[in-house]
Amino acid sequence: MARKILIVDDDPNALRLVSYALQAEGYDVATAANGSEALSRLPTERPDLVILDVMMPDMSGLEVCQRLRTDPTTARLPILMLSARGLVADRVSGLKSGADDYLPKPADTGELVARVEALLNRAAHRSMPSGQVLAFLGAKGGSGTTTVAVNVASLIAEQNKAVTVVELRPGPGTAAGLLGFQPAHDLSELLAMPAANLSQKDVLGRSILRSANGLRLLPAPRSGDTPCDISADFVEALVAQLLQEADYVVFDLAPCWSAANRAVTSHARFTAVVCEPDPLSVQCARATLATLQQWGIMGDLVGVILVNRGVSANALPLATLRATLQAGIAGTIPPAADLPLVAAKEGIPLATLRPEHMASAALKDLAGRLTQSRIKFLQV
Ligand SMILES: Nc1ncnc2c1ncn2[C@@H]1O[C@H](COP(=O)(O)OP(=O)(O)OP(=O)(O)O)[C@@H](O)[C@H]1O
Ligand SMILES: [Mg+2]
Repeated sequence: MARKILIVDDDPNALRLVSYALQAEGYDVATAANGSEALSRLPTERPDLVILDVMMPDMSGLEVCQRLRTDPTTARLPILMLSARGLVADRVSGLKSGADDYLPKPADTGELVARVEALLNRAAHRSMPSGQVLAFLGAKGGSGTTTVAVNVASLIAEQNKAVTVVELRPGPGTAAGLLGFQPAHDLSELLAMPAANLSQKDVLGRSILRSANGLRLLPAPRSGDTPCDISADFVEALVAQLLQEADYVVFDLAPCWSAANRAVTSHARFTAVVCEPDPLSVQCARATLATLQQWGIMGDLVGVILVNRGVSANALPLATLRATLQAGIAGTIPPAADLPLVAAKEGIPLATLRPEHMASAALKDLAGRLTQSRIKFLQV
């Protein structure tokens, strides 16, 4: 797809000249004759770069530039200033207002195109997502998936990492409650928007920030007022936006072999199947691992987390589990008695509320393993 450039200049001749030069190189071009027109057209045009004249009647290019930099949706948009004012002091004020580059008029079209290309390449490199996706997929309902996902995410956030948890399910969930939130927003609002238009502002605006450690949560829908079909396209758009901001995006996935879960796991650096150590749960985990394998998620991209809630009279020995599941075991969480309920009542993750508890130590060990450059499974 051709990249789009918005050219802002009050001089129609300059607009024509620059448009022509860029169109000849295959760029899509949009134009605005002044600063306010540029600002109003940005949300619909969504350019990849802006070329900005400095001296314009209604609003100077410097002011337009400053405004773009203070809006989170355009803060990183590449800006090339083009101005008849070519003194060093003018260049400095242009760059200080937030422009990425400054070219005096009249500009040589070859140089202009070369600078535009350099800026676009730099921006493309900068916007390469640096974050990682971790997926927690329940082998069956009630396995402890949300408890593990929220605690691991919170422990990683305590290491000064930017972490966002997404409780991706079409119905009600418990993540907000575990973090003590009464959310004002949830996933259903994003699901109601066209996936292709999902912006960072939309996503960040619908997530909730836990001030204690900066953990963000995008909670499951609170009501069924709007349809909640989660498409793979939605997941793609969501992941792309979240990875721009977060070091880790932690997905709490409902036990389902859906297109949405498949899309999440295809992006995940690691998918953990959360399972209880009893025969029926293990049967579900085996089916899930087989499905993941069909999706191409295998080897050290996938592992099992065993949550022993203490309710299973049939808990199998670890070696048997390892042999039956034919997958690496990333962690085992021991029974925590009523601690999860106490922690839920307080709205504080259990590993934070009672760090000395064995279950908390196991969660901390797990969080450490999942943030290593290469995940080391338990030796069983
Ligand atoms: N280590 C543990 N010891 C004891 N109870 C636990 C432990 N981990 C989780 N629980 C409890 O098990 C129940 C299910 O946990 P959780 O809600 O995390 O599971 P889930 O897989 O997310 O469930 P759902 O399928 O409903 O989303 C909760 O009541 C939780 O408090
Ligand atoms: Mg859950």
